[in-house]
Amino acid sequence: MKESAPDLLPSVRDLLSPDGLRDPYAVYSRFRNAEAAGHDIGQVVVRYDQVVGLLGDRRLSAERVAAVLEPLGTEVRERCPLVEPTLRGIVAFRDAPDHTRIRALLASAFSTRMVKRVADMIEGISTRLLDAVAADGEADLHRAYSYPLPALVVGAMLGVPQADLDRFKSWALDIVFLVGSGSPTEQLAVSAQEHFAEMREYFRALVAARRGDPGDDLLSAMIGAADRERRLSEDEIFSNVTFLMTAGHETATNMLSNGVLALLRHPDQLERLRRDRSLVASAAEEILRFESPVQMTSRRAVEDGEFAARRVKAGDALQLFLGAANRDPDRFPGPDRFDIARTDNRHVAFAFGPHFCLGAALAREELRIALDHLLERLPGLELTVEEVAWQPTIDFRGPLSLPVRWRPAAARAGSARSKVGK
Ligand code: HEM
Repeated sequence: MKESAPDLLPSVRDLLSPDGLRDPYAVYSRFRNAEAAGHDIGQVVVRYDQVVGLLGDRRLSAERVAAVLEPLGTEVRERCPLVEPTLRGIVAFRDAPDHTRIRALLASAFSTRMVKRVADMIEGISTRLLDAVAADGEADLHRAYSYPLPALVVGAMLGVPQADLDRFKSWALDIVFLVGSGSPTEQLAVSAQEHFAEMREYFRALVAARRGDPGDDLLSAMIGAADRERRLSEDEIFSNVTFLMTAGHETATNMLSNGVLALLRHPDQLERLRRDRSLVASAAEEILRFESPVQMTSRRAVEDGEFAARRVKAGDALQLFLGAANRDPDRFPGPDRFDIARTDNRHVAFAFGPHFCLGAALAREELRIALDHLLERLPGLELTVEEVAWQPTIDFRGPLSLPVRWRPAAARAGSARSKVGK
């Protein structure tokens, strides 16, 4: 490899600049070109084949919590004693055998069969949310629809009472900020400590209630496994219920808004979907590829070695850019073209390998139902702004708001019929 030329090469920080937030794909392209020209692009991985290879590489570990929190220093970490154990218990940050044990337990709740069962619930929630705005003719669709829909769905699956969802969402966000920021601050850690303490208090009561009167929800299933089979500790229940709220919410919210935005910015594709609703499933896949809600994940090397043509030392992190892999021209012809009928669209929006997203089937169902309902209920949908502002993070991608208007229909409560989920 050639010596790197720091002034010319892109850096991960470029992704947070106004241009980078607007179009991270141009930055990924610069990384790709620099690598192809023989430059050392460090721990950044942008090629599809390399991202896929590394996600399945057992020499890399997903256990990254201690390393992520290390910059906080011992004193702050000691003042926030719940933070590390709570994060460490999360399935996404564990390796086998603990990962396999926890994942198997959660997986039963997210099977395709189960997801088909919740499809009716998704339809009901989507209909209610659209009933509330359909007659207005304009809204911030991110706030009014993309934000509440996934939280209500995952909350119902977990058995969290609807009235408590807002509290729950703010606890869950700590995980996103702390682990996702890449540079956790003392303030974030202290806030997470307070929230995790509240969450435990809340869950102690909810777990006790479910124990006495189990329901048909995931939390009851987790408690059953903890009590009967000793397959899950109570701490792991706390950690993973909170994680599911995060995993099932932020990501899916962004998926819905990114999808609407991509269609509105490509009116020919929107029109094509309107005319041929059988394209809804492939449109959903193209949305996930084109504007992936999770742009980046990371792994740490457990041994020194060569990884994706780089020398990496044990303990070092590799940044795997899913969003870049999904725009790799060597894998997807015309990767920057948004084509709702694209075939051979095996994107990595849900990652790959042992940590492949457990909620993928659920997320896909939500997106297909949402597209169908939005097309039906909000005729003439269009953006009311030229540019949207993007969330200022490297790993998640979604707009901060989505101001739109449409031709208001007279109140048509309950009129959304679904043509999906067959
Ligand atoms: C569009 C929506 C979603 C996207 C793009 C997405 C993306 C991802 C990605 C990329 C990973 C792998 C992270 C890594 O390997 O480091 C992941 C893992 C995971 N996701 Fe999702 N996700 C979405 C929705 C959901 C939903 C709705 C749920 C559940 C309610 C969920 C639950 C999980 C869980 C439990 C894991 C950890 C799996 C493991 O570590 O074995 N996700 N997701």
